[in-house]
Amino acid sequence: MSSEPLPLQGVHHVELLVGNAKQAAYYYRKAFGFSQIAYAGPETGVRDQASYVMAQGKIRLVLSTPLTPEDPMGERHRLRGDSVLDIAFVVDDVDQHFKAIVDRGGAVAREPYDMADSQGRVRRAKIYAYGDTLHSLISMDDYTGAFLPGYKIQRVAEPDFGLVSVDHIVGNVEDGKMNEWVDYYERVFGFNQFLSFDDKDISTEYSALRSKVMASPTAKVKFPINEPAEGRRKSQIQEYLESHRGPGVQHVALQTGDILHTVSVLRQAGVEFLKIPSSYYESIWNRVGDINEDCQAIENLDILVDRDEEGYLLQIFTRPVEDRPTLFYEIIQRCGSQSFGKGNFKSLFEAIEREQAARGNL
Ligand code: FE2
Repeated sequence: MSSEPLPLQGVHHVELLVGNAKQAAYYYRKAFGFSQIAYAGPETGVRDQASYVMAQGKIRLVLSTPLTPEDPMGERHRLRGDSVLDIAFVVDDVDQHFKAIVDRGGAVAREPYDMADSQGRVRRAKIYAYGDTLHSLISMDDYTGAFLPGYKIQRVAEPDFGLVSVDHIVGNVEDGKMNEWVDYYERVFGFNQFLSFDDKDISTEYSALRSKVMASPTAKVKFPINEPAEGRRKSQIQEYLESHRGPGVQHVALQTGDILHTVSVLRQAGVEFLKIPSSYYESIWNRVGDINEDCQAIENLDILVDRDEEGYLLQIFTRPVEDRPTLFYEIIQRCGSQSFGKGNFKSLFEAIEREQAARGNL
């Protein structure tokens, strides 16, 4: 059995299953600076779902909602609430990839099939990842349309907030399952382990987690996988697993080239971020040294800073974007550093725990 990397070309899109895609599209436009580029639904011949394609930089988010309770996605939504359904990869040849993945023990969600409209053909298959999260494999073949067959161009432009690409996508899995999923990504997709953090790195007085970062050598996307660890109180990962009713995507990190601008406009638009105590900044500049950005502006916006051998990074985390404490977003600017802000874990998790306590879940 080969674990040679499969040449995944990158993330084609991330699809979210939501309760009301029309309203979610408005939120992602007004609060996050996405433009709507395409739509699929009854008006385009899709009977059971409505989907809106949101674009900013190279990022494509698809917001889909079931139109009837009979649709299987209706049951999934009842169970999990709004959540990530699919992280779709572009590949050269779906059939070849699908066969390789199945030979390596990948779990089949849907055999290869054609999607076609007047603008050409796309080939697609679906593989299961943790929980019922999917990895679609998509080859664009001769397709020239705006997004995928079945979608019509329906453009609602918004001013861009400076978000350019997906940096990493983090999954939460059950206690004791992290290594199974690390092994799955290694064996099935030929990913490598990039970094690992144990509960000594990521623990506070109360709660703990373990994390390993899987990286696709070809797609340049990283997939950290977290599991809860024993602590004095309930791990934030456990709170997620209970709220989402199982494993799933915890956060999607979006890259910006100018975090001061991006976070300023996100805040003006009403996006809520985790609050960091001002004591965080008392020692930070000694630890990370000089950066190119204005330190006072960084502090005013509650942006976190970390440095490693290769450079530094700036990052900030939204509060969950649903009422259940499940999916949230990270905004990240990389200035040389390719890591994940290990130096910020403690302050970050203490901030999450203050919110967990307010929900009565700590
Ligand atoms: Fe992250």
